[in-house]
Amino acid sequence: MHLRHSDHDHGPATVEVVFHIEDPVGLTGDEDKTEVRTMAAKGEHLLEVAVEHGINIEHACGAVCACSTCHVYVEQGMDDLSEATEAEEDRVEEAPGLQINSRLSCQCEVEGDGPIVVRVPAWNRNAVKEVPH
Ligand code: FES
Repeated sequence: MHLRHSDHDHGPATVEVVFHIEDPVGLTGDEDKTEVRTMAAKGEHLLEVAVEHGINIEHACGAVCACSTCHVYVEQGMDDLSEATEAEEDRVEEAPGLQINSRLSCQCEVEGDGPIVVRVPAWNRNAVKEVPH
């Protein structure tokens, strides 16, 4: 699915965003990439930042808040992200393994100065791949 990027231009990448990846082989093709340190610009969404750095978080609906495959856990820096909308809250409840720090990465816009730490669960990927046809 094509990833919809934010429409506006972003400023310089000044916010540290660290991704902890539970399934590095599945998401990056590299078993050593359990942690990826990135710099993001304010206004970017976490999903965009991840994909730009080779972390292939599923985004089955194309980042329009119509699935829950881009589910992540925000371990640090929740206040540096845009607040969840009602639509996101409704949708994220469908994600397996829901936690208090669950967010949809396509809906989280970087707003503060960070650092932001995000855990990408392994089963996001599997949830899509293993659905019987
Ligand atoms: S990609 Fe579908 S809700 Fe984020």
